[in-house]
Amino acid sequence: MTRKLFVTTALPYANANFHIGHIMEYTQADIWVRFQRMQGQQVHFVCADDAHGAPIMIAAEKAGITPQAFVANIAAGRKAYLDGFHISFDNWHSTDGPENHELSQEVYRSLRKNELIEVKTIEQFFDPQKQMFLPDRFIKGECPKCGAKDQYGDSCEVCGAVYTPTELKHPFSVLTGATPVIKSSEHYFFKLSDPRCVAFLEEWTQTPNRLQSEVLNKIKEWFTKDAEGNGGLGDWDISRDAPYFGIEIPDAPGKYFYVWLDAPIGYLASLKNYFGKVGADFDAFMADPTVEQIHFIGKDITYFHTLFWPAMLHFSGRKTPNHVFVHGFMTVNGGEKMSKSRGTGLDPLKYLKLGLNAEALRYYIAAKLNARVEDLDFNPEDFVARVNSDLVGKYINIASRAAGFLTKRFGGHLSGDLGVEGRALLDGLRAHAPVIAELYEEREFGKALRETMLLADRVNEYVDQNKPWELAKLEGKDAVLHDVCSVCIEAFRLLTIYLKPVLPALAARVEAFLRVEAMQFADAQRSLGAHQIGAYEHLMQRVDPKVVEALFEPPPAPKVIPGGEDLAPEIKIDDFTKVDLRVARIVKAEHVEGSDKLLRLTLDAGEGRMRNVFSGIKSAYKPEDLEGKLTVLVANLAPRKMKFGISEGMVLAASHANEKANPGIFVLEPFPGAQPGMRIR
Ligand code: 2FM
Ligand code: ZN
Repeated sequence: MTRKLFVTTALPYANANFHIGHIMEYTQADIWVRFQRMQGQQVHFVCADDAHGAPIMIAAEKAGITPQAFVANIAAGRKAYLDGFHISFDNWHSTDGPENHELSQEVYRSLRKNELIEVKTIEQFFDPQKQMFLPDRFIKGECPKCGAKDQYGDSCEVCGAVYTPTELKHPFSVLTGATPVIKSSEHYFFKLSDPRCVAFLEEWTQTPNRLQSEVLNKIKEWFTKDAEGNGGLGDWDISRDAPYFGIEIPDAPGKYFYVWLDAPIGYLASLKNYFGKVGADFDAFMADPTVEQIHFIGKDITYFHTLFWPAMLHFSGRKTPNHVFVHGFMTVNGGEKMSKSRGTGLDPLKYLKLGLNAEALRYYIAAKLNARVEDLDFNPEDFVARVNSDLVGKYINIASRAAGFLTKRFGGHLSGDLGVEGRALLDGLRAHAPVIAELYEEREFGKALRETMLLADRVNEYVDQNKPWELAKLEGKDAVLHDVCSVCIEAFRLLTIYLKPVLPALAARVEAFLRVEAMQFADAQRSLGAHQIGAYEHLMQRVDPKVVEALFEPPPAPKVIPGGEDLAPEIKIDDFTKVDLRVARIVKAEHVEGSDKLLRLTLDAGEGRMRNVFSGIKSAYKPEDLEGKLTVLVANLAPRKMKFGISEGMVLAASHANEKANPGIFVLEPFPGAQPGMRIR
């Protein structure tokens, strides 16, 4: 029976480009999916951008665009990565699509009908300036335990303490710097503590072969209450107050679903969107009990996928996931974790731009993957060694050693006979197909590749024993040479089948070279017979260690301006926008008694009041030459008490790094037309 597989990877937040952790997850899922397709199974493999939530809303606001436009910009960048690394999603959608709005509201209505939604009033920090409730990550302050400054509202990075934002000392809003106030508001909760939920989740999580054993152990911890009755499954706050970029909660004006409610529903929405495009029946498919629903995810989001998500589905009368396959993080050089939020080290796009082979990385990732929740380290030397010795040295070499003779001496025709030894070798290779298939099925990709490379070793031993390059020089050995080279090509074909889930583009080039149709796993049990193959063209280059080194070179240091001062360290746009620059008119300029450097400026920055600013430009300007002119004012600089009075800002001027050697101060003046009060950005 053909299996019907609905497979997803986690939906990435649409606030950043992919990092290597995403590519690792997509590669893992893609290998599994391609293997299933090669087994003739029906697979629908989908993903989408996770579009909602406060961080994306705020990032969009800072960029001065709508969240929709912000998300669309990020989405436009996805293709280069997915195509580049041969990730074969059938569909890419967005959680802000109409399908997801509809499905999320449907799920919610069903939960409410099942009496699993409860409204409770909670107290939360509110930014009075921004007029919005602050998520934990947008509040900072001093750690209540160790007193460390500048800690987030949920946990301390210094001592590791976990707390609620209201416990912080001297809290402030990350958005405005304002001191947040406590305000109460009605929130909607999914009653996960309801006995029906607890009973269902115990049964669901413990169904044999559903979850990895490490995941199950973790879940058992989450279920267990401690001696004081703390822990266990708590109710889940699924609402957020406006302003929020999300999906509106039905019959609850001003309330939106928390992003984590609608995100996994995005899996269904992407499939529905896909079925809409290809004219398939989504409801019928999801109602089919033989459909297997499978999610590949990272270990950091296990809670959402093994508790909230199955409960949401079950109590809204839907099918629940058959498996949630959890993987570890990717590290580089034993270094920092490639978690979702911090992708450093190996930039996937830079990898492609340097011309490094995407399938070399797929191979390396696969070779280090297993079915457990283990972190996976990218080690540059190990990468170069494995790709060059296994892939090129062992596998590609088999074809390159045999193909030339076949073309030149036998018109590309394979021998139908192959000889006793050759047939035995090939039978041995074919006999491994079920084992390798099982390893792919079990996501033991490292083992599948090790098995395959052991087979490649056997083939290379056969080549070394039979020495086609010597046979080619001997009289009367044509038939043997023909058999040996034909055995090599047939063996190469079998190895290519075993590697095809990992190396799809290479396999396609091999298929063209062998002049065969797209290979399925079952093709390992056939034989090419006296088939005519095409001309061999080199299939894969060795990885150049120098290029791999370049991959890890830090971005170029700030440039030095010739003869001038070094550029200041790079800043983010947010850093720049913190500085509020305004056009201001110099209404009055006067000497300051007792100062040989300063002029006192009276500035009109369109505020309906005047500003007093002391500026060190006396050496360059006469007061009367400045009056009436426009200039640039740093308008949000904290007022400074000086000997001569309070300075309420700063006027911008250019000067040389070495002022003594190159004197001169040049006050900035906007082009004609600028008006006092205009912001400069
Ligand atoms: O952790 C993350 O990156 C989330 N955007 C994953 C969401 S997975 C699913 F629920 F959509
Ligand atoms: Zn602390």
